[in-house]
Amino acid sequence: MDKMKKHILITGGAGFIGSHLLHLFVNKYPEYLIVNADKLTYAGNLENLKEIENAPNYRFEKADITSNDEISELFKKYDFDGVIHLAAESHVDRSISNPMEFINTNIVGTVNLLNVARAHWNGNYEGKRFYHVSTDEVYGSLGDTGYFTESTAYDPRSPYSASKASSDHLVRAYFHTYGLPVVLSNCSNNYGPYQFPEKLLPLFIHNIRNRKPLPVYGKGENIRDWLYVGDHCEAIDTIFHKGTAGETYNIGGNNEWKNIDLIRLLCKVMDNKLGRKEGESEELITFVKDRAGHDMRYAIDASKVKKELGWEPKTDFPTGLEKTVDWYLTNKEWLESVTSGQYQKYYEDQYIKR
Ligand code: NAD
Ligand code: DAU
Repeated sequence: MDKMKKHILITGGAGFIGSHLLHLFVNKYPEYLIVNADKLTYAGNLENLKEIENAPNYRFEKADITSNDEISELFKKYDFDGVIHLAAESHVDRSISNPMEFINTNIVGTVNLLNVARAHWNGNYEGKRFYHVSTDEVYGSLGDTGYFTESTAYDPRSPYSASKASSDHLVRAYFHTYGLPVVLSNCSNNYGPYQFPEKLLPLFIHNIRNRKPLPVYGKGENIRDWLYVGDHCEAIDTIFHKGTAGETYNIGGNNEWKNIDLIRLLCKVMDNKLGRKEGESEELITFVKDRAGHDMRYAIDASKVKKELGWEPKTDFPTGLEKTVDWYLTNKEWLESVTSGQYQKYYEDQYIKR
């Protein structure tokens, strides 16, 4: 195989953020060979990658990040210079009902990748990079004021966030102990096309369209900081190429919404798009039992990545939300397919439990 300028491994590329990142990298870097390693769990879908599947600089490999044999084989085959690691179990509610899967994938899988990269690079770290894509949930829950900065102490509260916190610590340990050239980012809630309809926005868009109840946890007073997925991918691109080894960068949208306010806005946008009378979708709002250990507020201080690397979000929220709603309404078949057939069990597991 001819060595292209860089060989990059992206894990979890068939998921929500990974598929957007692949679109960006495959189109922007024709001189890179980009390999997507994904186990194709319920959250991974090759339909998300249709537009780039035949690109000459793209390869798909079905692989499990927890398998030393499978990942070592890929490193031998492609001689990677860089890893951008996104593969994970990513849904908080599933981590509450099945924590072990999160421990295996998010912790064991990450350590396995670190070990294989370290063994393959064998101390020759020139031009090498291991990027761990992580979450703001590692910092715990905020009160009414304040922001998460890179020096906020970790205080994870769900099995999901504890597993991501653990993997962050291990990634940093490989930097300090073995000199592995790592970089990390911790990002707030992403929204956009190709998100599995277990997460708030795609689930509620799907339910509004089908006139099904909208299950709001607790009183809907929890606050999240929303970022358009394309902006997150641009931040990953910037940090991968320009970030300093050993550093962490917080990424956020500077866009806090109380859940209930966001849901009411979504209902308004949907009424308008679907030609329904104003207020019709709001009638579907149903307050249900709160999520166990539900973090109250997340808010990111993203000044470090802006100041040091020049990244800031570009997509204003009304535009991003409208673009997102339009995508799900236009791609009805995608939503139908991921809530039926092989995906139905996963969709219903989440939905019926409430
Ligand atoms: P997702 O659930 O949509 O996708 C995860 C992908 O990982 C899927 O394609 C799945 O098949 C793959 N995968 C799971 N287990 C695997 C394994 N053992 N081996 C190989 N592949 C496996 O997740 P997402 O929302 O795109 O999140 C991607 C990453 O970004 C995660 O690490 C998540 O913690 C992080 N993150 C997500 C958000 C968000 O709002 N979605 C915000 C901050 C950080
Ligand atoms: O902050 C980054 C994190 O954002 C990522 O690390 C996670 O992978 C991602 O799933 C997301 O976690 P959240 O738990 O914040 O996202 P979710 O879409 O599950 O929920 C958003 C908010 O909406 C949260 O306060 C819970 C609430 N909610 C969610 C669902 C699915 C409801 O009220 N009802 C619902 O049905």
